Amino acid sequence: MQPQIRTLGVVGSGVIGAGWAARALAHGLDVVAWDPAPGWQGRLSAAIGNAWPALEKVGLFPGASLDRLRCADSLDAVCRAADFIQESAPERLELKQNLHERIDAQAPPEVVVASSTSGLLPTELQSRCRRPERLVVGHPFNPVYLLPLVEVLGGAETSPVSIDRAMELYRNLGMHPLRVRTEIEGFLSDRLQEALWRELLHLVNDGVATTEELDAAIVYGPGLRWAFMGTCLSYHLAGGAAGMDDFLKQFGPALKLPWTRLPAPELSEELIARMAEGTRRQADGRTVKELERLRDDCLVAIMQALKRFEVGAGRTLAENEKRLQEAHRGNGQTS
Ligand SMILES: NC(=O)c1ccc[n+]([C@@H]2O[C@H](COP(=O)([O-])OP(=O)(O)OC[C@H]3O[C@@H](n4cnc5c(N)ncnc54)[C@H](O)[C@@H]3O)[C@@H](O)[C@H]2O)c1
Repeated sequence: MQPQIRTLGVVGSGVIGAGWAARALAHGLDVVAWDPAPGWQGRLSAAIGNAWPALEKVGLFPGASLDRLRCADSLDAVCRAADFIQESAPERLELKQNLHERIDAQAPPEVVVASSTSGLLPTELQSRCRRPERLVVGHPFNPVYLLPLVEVLGGAETSPVSIDRAMELYRNLGMHPLRVRTEIEGFLSDRLQEALWRELLHLVNDGVATTEELDAAIVYGPGLRWAFMGTCLSYHLAGGAAGMDDFLKQFGPALKLPWTRLPAPELSEELIARMAEGTRRQADGRTVKELERLRDDCLVAIMQALKRFEVGAGRTLAENEKRLQEAHRGNGQTS
């Protein structure tokens, strides 16, 4: 039997690394982190502090504490202390290949190493490793400490045992690991999101709509459905009693209309300025930190509402709460 994972190694402590650290701490794990940027320790503590109120609402596991975060002074120290390493360094292939070569040389052989990459292929990331079989991709979503989805895939050399070990850890961290069976760039979720994003940039570029109008086009409609039924099942209902069959017969011809564009528009200075100005107006003076707290409160409320119906992220939350109660019982406490 594999030993239990008690210490998560966090390599790179920006938006995503900090999110992993917060999630692991809330589940009672020890976290040992390292980042090469000056002043990273303060930024990491602040990011975890900002996430903690939402995590308290979701429920803290026995032993969960901010004091279990250790900021290491070297990558080597993380590799020596961690039972599982999650790399969240910048999305540059060469940088990540170098980093994985170093981690691979230093971490004990039984330690699985996961990359948070949004779209780089694990086969490329593991190409310079002596033990490529332990490298997996575990692609999370921001904020990592609340959104349950993590896409899990291996490269040509990854062993099924490493995939299983990663899936198990993510489940124990209250997540929904989605096994991506075919190794493709961008994986599944980002491919879908990018298609929407490209179309959105075209609509702003062409002066058809503002960022605010396009956000409204999602927030008041499809966005609400997506949280529990996704696109396919929602369209199945849109076809009436006969479901998807009729939906495709009725709306299928529209797929041939020439107005959707898959190639992205040129990111001109003007388009960037329009996007930035539009979202600045929407933020209406609120800082990113303030908006993060609002986003977190909304996400917790949505997941708690969905729990009653045992669907989507609500079901993941319910399973997490069950484990949480068992953990508190095992710890001799009532929760
Ligand atoms: N931001 C997102 O929404 C998101 C979502 C899912 C996955 N990801 C992926 O997560 C990874 C990190 O993204 P992020 O948004 O946290 O970026 P970020 O810029 O916020 O953080 C990256 C961190 O890595 C550190 N770093 C730089 N060089 C390093 C090195 N050689 N070794 C270790 N750390 C190093 C930086 O100092 C920084 O703190 C990327 O692979 C990205 O594709 C991002």
